[in-house]
Amino acid sequence: MLIKRPDDTCPSEITPPEIYARRRELMKAAAAGSIVAAAGGLSSRGASAQGGGLAKLDGVRKSAYSTVEQPNTYRQITTYNNFYEFGTDKDDPARYADRLKVKPWTVVVEGEVRKPRTFGIEELVKLPLEERIYRLRCVEAWSMVIPWVGFEFRELAKLVEPTGNAKFVEFVTAYQPETMPGVRLPVLDWPYVEGLRIDEAMHPLTILAVGLYGEVLPNQCGAPIRLVVPWKYGFKSGKSIVRIRFTDKQPKTAWEKAAPHEYGFYSNVNPDVAHPRWSQKKEKRLPSLFATRDTVIFNGYGDQVASLYAGMDLKKNF
Ligand code: MTE
Repeated sequence: MLIKRPDDTCPSEITPPEIYARRRELMKAAAAGSIVAAAGGLSSRGASAQGGGLAKLDGVRKSAYSTVEQPNTYRQITTYNNFYEFGTDKDDPARYADRLKVKPWTVVVEGEVRKPRTFGIEELVKLPLEERIYRLRCVEAWSMVIPWVGFEFRELAKLVEPTGNAKFVEFVTAYQPETMPGVRLPVLDWPYVEGLRIDEAMHPLTILAVGLYGEVLPNQCGAPIRLVVPWKYGFKSGKSIVRIRFTDKQPKTAWEKAAPHEYGFYSNVNPDVAHPRWSQKKEKRLPSLFATRDTVIFNGYGDQVASLYAGMDLKKNF
């Protein structure tokens, strides 16, 4: 059932209507007890405005790429999430995602690279970690400011040495039917897959985040490792990544497969390209209830990234 909250004055559901209808089944399954709420989500355990009481990350440097805007609180960032593997309501990930099995965790990096490798998460958190305070603009017209901790994607690429055929990068995320109630339904073509053009992936703003507010990521935010691409709509940032493939072909992303007329490959934040069901001109900065802020092209990162799209028609390549 689509519950309209007062703050949902615009049609702020990412899900195409035909897919959204299927979530009723999920809710029924939950009510029947086949989905057991994990006792106390991570977000509620030891949480303060600036942390969740999770393990601290070492050696984190501040970054010149951070916005000076005031970050959202830890609670706001960890209780209003999209992670459809755990349900389609905003509070489902905080309620159910602590079942996600994050240990051991490996990320396979393969495809058009000279040195394919499987990395343990322990190796990845030793790459140069920075705190990057970025704006996140969701396609549903809400936004937040989030102090991620992560390393630049290009640092990982250096280790595997992409070949000249690497034109795109595909990000495949975890598929754990035993912990993820959402994947029992064909809401999306699981596993959730995202993709970037190689120059987008190698841009210094593109990070793989392993932390939030100086601590390891809470599960609902995509533990233990997720993509963050601040000039694109939030859905480009795949959570809980297990496989990264350098490829010569443009990957088919989960949202493109579900609704290609609504979610394009690029998905750059653009107030001039409306979603077919709502405008992208304004946004609400959570926890505000009202979409009063003007949305800015490339989410305000235009100085750094507009040149990647020089000469491209951004209405066609949405
Ligand atoms: N990654 C996976 N694996 N599954 C998802 O459902 N949702 C996307 C993206 N990454 C999603 C995902 C969407 S729609 C958004 S807006 C962001 O994650 C939200 O990230 P946040 O919940 O950490 O703010």
